Amino acid sequence: SNEVIQQLLQTFAGPGRLAIGFEPSYSMHGLISRGTGTGWISGPRKGDFTIDVDAAEAAIAAHRPDVVFITTPNNPTGTAVDAETVLALYEAAQAAKPSLVIVDEAYVEFSHRPSLLPLIEGRPNLVVSRTMSKAFGAAGLRLGYLAAHPAVVDAVQLVRLPYHLSAVTQATALAALEHTDTLLGYVEQLKAERDRLVAELRAIGYEVTESDANFVQFGRFTGEGGAHAVWQRILDRGVLVRDNGVPGWLRVTAGTPEENDAFLDAVRALKKEQSS
Ligand SMILES: Cc1ncc(COP(=O)(O)O)c(C=O)c1O
Repeated sequence: SNEVIQQLLQTFAGPGRLAIGFEPSYSMHGLISRGTGTGWISGPRKGDFTIDVDAAEAAIAAHRPDVVFITTPNNPTGTAVDAETVLALYEAAQAAKPSLVIVDEAYVEFSHRPSLLPLIEGRPNLVVSRTMSKAFGAAGLRLGYLAAHPAVVDAVQLVRLPYHLSAVTQATALAALEHTDTLLGYVEQLKAERDRLVAELRAIGYEVTESDANFVQFGRFTGEGGAHAVWQRILDRGVLVRDNGVPGWLRVTAGTPEENDAFLDAVRALKKEQSS
């Protein structure tokens, strides 16, 4: 879906135009914007990592961006965005320009909430982008897709390279789709493990951001060395989590029950060391 995002920016943004996202969020939105010559505006989030609707509307009205990114569930925080927020930002974006609103649902299959796909009905400037990289466990396949008004899809065809999706990719994706029930069955198990990680981390005494994704953001690490020092100490215990640059926080991906137990044992031991 990185390619889908790049094609959308090539089509609707570019030099002299602007895109906005609400950070911390998926860093490639800003990078692909810059790579297509599009100016990038970093919009705000609240302390709990939800989108601050008033501040977001004000930023859209002030900058009049050509593209608005809304990532739900958000990477790296796991935060879901409700339909009301998306609709409010869509209205603000239409009043300001009108601009294209890209709802990035890369992690939607892991969410407690349903997809926002139905919102594209009657909203010609709303695009939903999705991927087979996460829930289908097929990142190596490189298959992303979008849903939008036919006029948007037609416009994107202008920048899409001929034969950009190989026959092998298409055949593999169709084979994966035939096993949707099995593959999304694993997602259900993973969601239960994700919810267990949230509950256990809280019970141990960590702050945990609400998660609708297949990972959990936990903290807060304000001591010497900050989150990176804790990342190293968890790694010293044989568990690799992600230090994704949100000050004071780390991100753990939900794995198998055994992997999650190993992670929980590691952070439990760290907490004990701190309190002794
Ligand atoms: C929010 C979000 N969108 C899109 C992507 C792109 O994934 P892919 O290009 O594998 O579909 C990622 C990958 O990490 C992501 O986190």
